[in-house]
Amino acid sequence: MATLLQVNNLQTRFDTEAGVVKAVDGVTYHVDEHEIVGIVGESGCGKSVTQLSVLQLIPHPPGRIIGGEVWFEGKDLLKHERNGPEMRSVRGSKIAMIFQEPMTSLNPVLTVNDQLSEGMQLHLGFNKADARRRAAELLTMVGIPDAERRIDDYPHQFSGGMRQRVMIAMALSCNPKLIIADEPTTALDVTTQAVLLELMKDLVDRFNTSLVLVTHNLGVVARYAQRIYVMYAGRIVEAGPTKEVFAHPRHPYTVGLLKSVPRLDQPRDVKLVPIEGLPPNLIRMPPTCAFLPRCSYRIKRCAKSHWPALTTVGSRHLAACFVNLEEMES
Ligand SMILES: Nc1ncnc2c1ncn2[C@@H]1O[C@H](COP(=O)(O)OP(=O)(O)OP(=O)(O)O)[C@@H](O)[C@H]1O
Ligand SMILES: [Mg+2]
Repeated sequence: MATLLQVNNLQTRFDTEAGVVKAVDGVTYHVDEHEIVGIVGESGCGKSVTQLSVLQLIPHPPGRIIGGEVWFEGKDLLKHERNGPEMRSVRGSKIAMIFQEPMTSLNPVLTVNDQLSEGMQLHLGFNKADARRRAAELLTMVGIPDAERRIDDYPHQFSGGMRQRVMIAMALSCNPKLIIADEPTTALDVTTQAVLLELMKDLVDRFNTSLVLVTHNLGVVARYAQRIYVMYAGRIVEAGPTKEVFAHPRHPYTVGLLKSVPRLDQPRDVKLVPIEGLPPNLIRMPPTCAFLPRCSYRIKRCAKSHWPALTTVGSRHLAACFVNLEEMES
């Protein structure tokens, strides 16, 4: 399948009073056309900053993208001015982003129609009436009842779940090639979460859009993502087809993540084991593997070597670890 987005060695830093935060430290990943890719990892590991960097939405200062490439439609987006025409067009219509808290992306003083129509008028050349018609269609598609009337309401007149539906409609409105959904349903109750995720999956199928699903919920990636990337301390530590990574995790951190959540494919009496210890301080990163202090599989080599590079451990399966977990299993 053709590659839609190729991110190479992305590096993003934040200058803070306490020091330089290495929030994204050499991240490489790709998204194919019509693919759902999951990005998982615990809080603070750099999932959001990675995605915001792709769209050059990092606040500057304190943030800086100090290296890497973001290839999309034959261009390295990082070579373009963050507020120049190329990036505005990418953000406005080609890559849409859905955030966890819709109120941060919706403008409270504009009606839903104003917000939905604006992009279509700007990027698709729709006139006002056509944009309004399409906006109502989109709202109906994302399950907002009585869309013709609700379209003139303001964001605060919608419930949290409904606002997230509006965000999904907005994301789809300019027929983007890629949607990046950053914890799109975490703030909602589980039933609404499930409904919205199903809706998003149906719509990306229907619109032929690729989706990057950022979440710390492994159940969500297991169900929706074809491939996953596991992040730890600003880096990718494991990547591969979701089924393969879940069945044969090859990085101790992934093993830990999988043991720490309930799974339906395991007997109920299997004990859940939280990952001991704390995530590393991204200001004082050790030269060795950042997971080392928490790793129960560590060997002597780990403490003596630099952070291990991602290496192929199976078909399309990569892991950054010196220990061969497969051999240990057998
Ligand atoms: N504006 C900022 N200033 C300083 N540090 C920041 C800033 N934004 C993010 N960071 C730091 O960058 C690191 C990565 O943050 P990021 O938001 O990407 O984490 P995350 O994986 O998305 O976590 P979560 O699951 O909680 O959303 C964190 O250590 C965070 O403190
Ligand atoms: Mg985040």
